Amino acid sequence: MEKIILDCDPGHDDAIAILLAAASPEIDLLGITTVAGNHTIDNVTRNALSVCTVFGIQVPVARGSEGPLVIEQVIAEEIHGATGLDGPYLPPASFDLDPRHAVDFIIETVMAHEPGTVTLVPVGPYTNIALAARKEPRIVERVKQVIVMGGAYTRGNITPAAEFNIYADPEAAHVVFSAGWPVTMIGLDLTQHQALATPELQERVRAIGGDISEFILDTWDFVHTTHNGLLDIPYPAIHDACCVAAVIDPDIITVEKADVRVELEGRWTKGQTVANFQSASGMRHFGGSASAQTDYRTDVAITLDFERFADLIVDSATHLTNAKA
Ligand code: BDR
Ligand code: CA
Repeated sequence: MEKIILDCDPGHDDAIAILLAAASPEIDLLGITTVAGNHTIDNVTRNALSVCTVFGIQVPVARGSEGPLVIEQVIAEEIHGATGLDGPYLPPASFDLDPRHAVDFIIETVMAHEPGTVTLVPVGPYTNIALAARKEPRIVERVKQVIVMGGAYTRGNITPAAEFNIYADPEAAHVVFSAGWPVTMIGLDLTQHQALATPELQERVRAIGGDISEFILDTWDFVHTTHNGLLDIPYPAIHDACCVAAVIDPDIITVEKADVRVELEGRWTKGQTVANFQSASGMRHFGGSASAQTDYRTDVAITLDFERFADLIVDSATHLTNAKA
């Protein structure tokens, strides 16, 4: 089983990431940590507990950072609504938060497990992950890998150049991409253009019946409405679940190596992930002499096996529905 910590800001698509992480036999969900992103830390933390309650699961949930490292806070209320998870019914939490701060939870959990066994899955702004790496640098050597939702090598969503999770805390993203641990970047190129809740997938989830099925469909209905006019996509994007799917089945995505830099200053491009796919070192890719350059090698996701991804969602929802019955 793959041990993961899911760092999230639920969030409609974050909820589907929790679904896959909680239901899949391939995953040992060590805990969920929350970070301000789609909405305030109060709202996303309450939502995380409610989502676990809907799914009938109980795992440690630790509340994390209230805002980005350097910049002013940006939230995505225009997509996720006034609570950060408008649309579905959210029951009161059936259990309490872990008493630790998310940053300490991440550090203690990684240090308590064998080296090379814990995967971090940040699917909100990377504030907690960056702070954890700075507070306890030994986790950088110790984690197995970091699979992030965020960035894009083609086009952004919150601006033409930038994806929301990176834009909301670019300095944290810089820390994560440059730390030296293995990073897989699953960006909008994949999540916003290949991982959509198609009518066929919605019908399959509807056929399961019960409150989990209803919850999932309600999340998609809500973001389908808010996406309209903001994003040029026909169906709701299920961004964050792609990262968990890639832990369950690494072959579900294809990747190419690139040196990824986060634009921290651009007038029109702040928060952009600039990906250099070229492996030859003859050019001044990121300035300076080629030989003097650091290479922030990242596995950048390119394609998704959508049929397999859809099966994972249906199987996960079915499994948790049966477990609750
Ligand atoms: C990312 O931003 C958030 O709104 C989603 O939850 C996802 O993590 C997509 O840009
Ligand atoms: Ca998210």
